[in-house]
This record gives sequence, C-alpha cells and structure tokens, in this order.
Amino acid sequence: MARIAVYVTGSIAAYKAVSVVRDLQRAGHEVRVAQTKAAQQFVGPATWGSLTHHPVVDDLWAMSAEGQVPHVHLADWSDLALVVPASADVLAKMASGLADDAVTSALLATQARRLVVPAMNSHMWANPATQRNVAQLKKDGVHFLEPTDGMLAEGYAGKGRMPEPATISKWVDSFLNKSNALTKKRVVVTAGGTREPLDPVRFIGNRSSGKMGIAIAKAAALRGADVNLIVGQVSVEVPHHPNIRVQRVETTEELFEKVDLAFEKADALVMAAAVADFRLAKPNEQKIKKDQNGNLTLQLVKTTDILKVMGQKKGKRLVVGFAAETEHLLENGTAELARKNADLIVANDITKAGSGFGKDTNQVTIISRDQDPVEWPQMSKRAVAEHLIDLIGQRLTERK
Ligand code: CTP
Repeated sequence: MARIAVYVTGSIAAYKAVSVVRDLQRAGHEVRVAQTKAAQQFVGPATWGSLTHHPVVDDLWAMSAEGQVPHVHLADWSDLALVVPASADVLAKMASGLADDAVTSALLATQARRLVVPAMNSHMWANPATQRNVAQLKKDGVHFLEPTDGMLAEGYAGKGRMPEPATISKWVDSFLNKSNALTKKRVVVTAGGTREPLDPVRFIGNRSSGKMGIAIAKAAALRGADVNLIVGQVSVEVPHHPNIRVQRVETTEELFEKVDLAFEKADALVMAAAVADFRLAKPNEQKIKKDQNGNLTLQLVKTTDILKVMGQKKGKRLVVGFAAETEHLLENGTAELARKNADLIVANDITKAGSGFGKDTNQVTIISRDQDPVEWPQMSKRAVAEHLIDLIGQRLTERK
C-alpha cells in the first residue's frame, strides 16, 4: 500500500478532496495532507487532522517537535504526490518551479510521481497561459486527470469541473497498479561512459554524463524494484537509495563482468551506458612518451558487445538497449534490435537540440518487435525514465 501526500489548493472543489482522502484510506493507503492558504477558505485544518491523524502541512516555516521541516519530510515520505484539486495558480507555480509556500515547496522537492487533478473556472482552464503550464508539466513528467464538462460553481456549464472522487481514486489505483508491476523485480541498469586505458595516464572515453541511466535507476527504485546500478564515468551524483546497489567500473570488460553476474538473477536489463566499442589491444604499462615515436599508431580491438551477449542468452528476461545515432535513427535502431536480440531499443538522435549527452532533456523513439516505432515528445530525462520504467513494468506483466 502506498504513502500518498495529498496537496489541496484553492478551488471550491476542495470539499470533494475530503472524499478522495477517505476513499484512498479505505483502499488501504496511508494519506497525509498539505494545503495552501487559499484552500483553508474551503476546508479547515481540523478536518484534515481528524481524517489523517496527522497535522496538516500548511506553514512553510513550521518545525516539528523532532526538528523536521514538515514540507520536506512530507516530500520525502510520500510514494505519490496527488494535487487535488489543482488551481490554475498552483499549476503556474509548479510549471515555473516557484516554491513560496509549504505545498509548492514540497511539490518541488518531492521525488515521488506527481498526479494532478485540475479544477477551475472553464475560462481559466482554456486560457493559453494555463494550457502552456499544463503542456510544460506534462513534459516534466507530471500526470493529469483532465477536468470534465459540466455545471460549474459559477452557475454555467463548461470544462473545468473536477471529476468525481470515485473516478479520482480509481485513477490513482490504476496508476499504482501500473507502478506495482516492478515491485521486487530485479532490474540491472548501466549508466555513464566506459574508459579504455592507453597507458597509466590516458584513456579513450566518451561524452556520457550518466544522467539518463541514473534517472532510470531512480525511477525503478521508486517503484519498488531491486536495482543493480553499474556505473562507469558519470558527471552527476550517484543516487543513495535503499533499493539501489551501486557498483563502479571503468572499462568495458569490467562492465561486462558485473553485468553478466547481475543478469543471472535479473528480470530486466537496461543498457543505458555508453560503452566503448574498441579498446587498445595492449595498453602501455608505462606512460607513452612523445619523443619515442614520430606519429603514434594505436591498434584497437573490438570489445565485447555486452548487450548482444545478454540478448542471446536472455530467455524470459527483458533486455533494453539504447541507440545514440547521428543519422538514420529508425533504420539503425531497428537493425540494432534484431542484431542484439533486444526487446526494446530507446533510440535518440544526439544531433537534435534537447537530446543526448549531458542534457537534462531527451527526445526518444521506442523501437520494439511487435509495434511500429513510437516517438515520444521531448521531456526531462526523469520523465523519459518514468515512462520507460512503466513500459518495462507493462512488458514484464504481459510475460507472466
Ligand atoms: N553496447 C554494449 N556493449 C558494447 C557497445 C554497446 O552493450 N560493447 C550497448 C550500449 O549500452 C547500448 C547499445 O549497445 O545500449 C548501443 O550501442 P552502440 O555502440 O551505440 O550501437 P551498435 O549497435 O553497437 O552500433 P554502432 O556502434 O556501430 O553504432
């Protein structure tokens, strides 16, 4: 059962959030509530406190008796963040990263999946500013349950009505079931770039930052998977999470050894690492001196194609590869899928702005055997990771 943080904001539909909280509790979830000052005009803190047996989080500057900052504690505690109802104001703040109260600060800090149920006047909903914010939040990986058409509190009909509490709880449940597909599954993720030594000082490396692979490991861990994260060279912090075991490697052969071992007990492998295709046949034991040679010729030999080896022996395990291409994305990705016997290839054109090495966003195309390629919109790497992990969960469930 999940830990759900419910964020209530200033909309007349706030009174219906009371039923949503009750429904979620009845379904066995643990619920805590935070609300904005505007929401207090509709439902008071005593209601939330009595329902959840926890004080509502509504003050950015409050400190608990244990010295915790309540909004940060709530952000870290939750598996799921549900904003219900979401006003136009909170959508605007979330889209631009504002954090001027306890609700928006927690929503900015949380690593939990964010589910949003907007409710507002139909003209506010249709306003291009609101629609721009919704589009931005979708790109950032936020999930929406769209408002319905119907009679508004204003006395006229329009799109802006919050769906009924039963529909909202059902949506949250279907979302959690999808996420549960990975609970206790063993997922091996590789991230970052390998380095092949030339001598004790130099190496052949690549531009991988590790951001994509690390985002995938985090997304899998947050859905309860048991993650083995094998990292080469990365330029971002490696996550500390009880579900993630981190192993560090330098060369392709070291990576191969670790993946091969972890793969034995795995349910899925995601090869997001940028792996060197060649290494020096015999790295120099001493530093190469420029005076010794006129020009320098290096003899390179092929490394083990880890994805291919795992693909060949995968059995029921799910194998996902990446294809970083500069041209002919679909042809190369489709050929790689077959050549490496993978189940999914995440292909991206690294020449596109907003895609590829070092960036925080990515635009990928998913290539699989049983479907035409699906082009995903440009999203944050965190959002791409979440969608990919959902897809992996779905594929693993279908295999059972
Ligand atoms: N990969 C691997 N072992 C290697 C090289 C690559 O497991 N020695 C994996 C990468 O982690 C990635 C996928 O294979 O998931 C794509 O590798 P890439 O080298 O880009 O593509 P190739 O199909 O090998 O073709 P080419 O290098 O010719 O583009």
